[in-house]
Amino acid sequence: MTNTNVTILLVLTSIAGLTGCLSPSRDTPPLQIWDDMKVQPKYKPQQQSGLFSDKRSSRRPPEGTVAVGQLNADDASHWGIVNSQYVGRNPLPITKELLAHGQNKFNVYCAPCHSQIGDGKGIVGVRAGAAFQPANLTEPRVKQMNDGELYSVASEGRRTMMGYRNQTSDQDRWAIIAYLRALHRATSGTIEDVPDSLRAQLK
Ligand code: HEC
Repeated sequence: MTNTNVTILLVLTSIAGLTGCLSPSRDTPPLQIWDDMKVQPKYKPQQQSGLFSDKRSSRRPPEGTVAVGQLNADDASHWGIVNSQYVGRNPLPITKELLAHGQNKFNVYCAPCHSQIGDGKGIVGVRAGAAFQPANLTEPRVKQMNDGELYSVASEGRRTMMGYRNQTSDQDRWAIIAYLRALHRATSGTIEDVPDSLRAQLK
């Protein structure tokens, strides 16, 4: 082959290679002469491995060890239950930041069913009909539950409600319960809460 022919061949193959890599309209995977960085030796979940005698690529933690941040030694704050009794009060100090965090998480995880004011009229219940009716979280029966019971329902679910232990952290759920108490307070107002100077304006 002459030098010119070699050059032409190189130019053509480069163009073919580049269009193959760059064309956004292709629906087949682009040709890879060298593997892209996304192609690397790795295990996918539950894949078999020849490296270990039990052939599991997903390893169990060594016995007697606990991953950082996953100790959960305190039953009260992890389960909301101690000696088969719901804990009476939220173990976290109630601060403005905790309430703001709880409001955020409540609006994400609870409001779709229970609504942002907790009356149970969220969009899911409205669409689902009679078979799936979220509870009104501001009714006296729920107000009377202690913090541990509310936390336990949020964690494990109850009857037709599923739990949110896997979607939220323990701290998130205690923050949600603190905020739910704020909703309880907001729906328990009496005339005594209105300053004397404003009572005349009430209709
Ligand atoms: C997908 C819809 C859905 C979501 C999201 C949801 N709930 Fe519920 N919840 C329900 C339903 C339905 C019930 C009524 C269960 C029953 O009585 O069968 C209920 C009942 C409850 C009750 C009353 C339990 C009782 O003893 O009657 C509490 C408290 C509660 N939910 C708290 C929460 C909190 C806190 C969250 C957010 C972490 C949440 N729920 C998220 C559907 C939901």
